Amino acid sequence: MTAFAGSVAATTRFDPLDRLDDHAPIRPSNANRSRLRLTFLGAKGLPANWLRGPLEEKNMKALVLSSSPRRDGNSAILAGEIAAGLRDAGHEADIVFADDFLKDFLRDCRKCRASDGNCSIDDGFRSVFLDKFLPADGFIAATPVYWYGPSAQLKAFFDRMFCYYAASYPGSADVIERMKNKRLGLAISSEETFPMVSAAVLTQFQEYARYSRSTFVGVIHGFGNSRGDVRRDPGDPVGAARRFGREFFTRAATDYHIDTVRPARMWTVAEVGGD
Ligand SMILES: Cc1cc2nc3c(=O)[nH]c(=O)nc-3n(C[C@H](O)[C@H](O)[C@H](O)COP(=O)(O)O)c2cc1C
Repeated sequence: MTAFAGSVAATTRFDPLDRLDDHAPIRPSNANRSRLRLTFLGAKGLPANWLRGPLEEKNMKALVLSSSPRRDGNSAILAGEIAAGLRDAGHEADIVFADDFLKDFLRDCRKCRASDGNCSIDDGFRSVFLDKFLPADGFIAATPVYWYGPSAQLKAFFDRMFCYYAASYPGSADVIERMKNKRLGLAISSEETFPMVSAAVLTQFQEYARYSRSTFVGVIHGFGNSRGDVRRDPGDPVGAARRFGREFFTRAATDYHIDTVRPARMWTVAEVGGD
């Protein structure tokens, strides 16, 4: 199983979270590969269906998080289209709005955690994280660019995961296993169009993908400011979001190493119409 191993290679790089109180380090392990990734691998070490769909993946579960305070805003429109595309393709797509369930930031776990190890922050995050995020095969986050970064809600969503994968949470080992090996996607809206406007959002997401041994499938970026502006973006991010949703579980997502085994042609002749 040489091809496609790049995104799950063990890493021993410095991890800033290792310095936090109560943190259970994620031990490198190649033993854990998702059932989805296994479907990409052929018997001879090359993908059975080289980088193209449709793979026979139906009825996958996706969680779409809309993290802008504007529930009818630009990133929410992209989130809705992605969810619709997922459903078009026969998948389950659950869309949640951060403002409905995320009411607080991460606190000092040593002071805040209940004596039985449970998180004492009493809002809806626990149920979204345990009942929707962990069981999902894919996770798509939608965010506006705020001050060249993600919304505070999206950042808090990631921060609050700590309450459940830290060693002081009784079910942390199981949580860590279930955080791994998801397909990940991003939908971004911003007013400015210069390419680096989303760099901080992308970097954080990419590092989350690496850290959790997940696969970062892609990004939809729509430009606009007032509500609904993305519908007028000539780049058609709304159409792209719908397609992204449809192809989310089948779209090529590669992250090679120098010695990754792969064929010279990336796409099949039929697909590109060449020789
Ligand atoms: C607090 C705040 C900060 C923002 N910062 C940026 C920014 O740094 N760069 C940018 O291009 N747009 C910025 N914007 C504009 C939003 O990204 C843009 O209006 C986006 O389409 C809003 O998405 P939404 O409708 O999903 O909330 C900011 C807007 C707000 C309210």
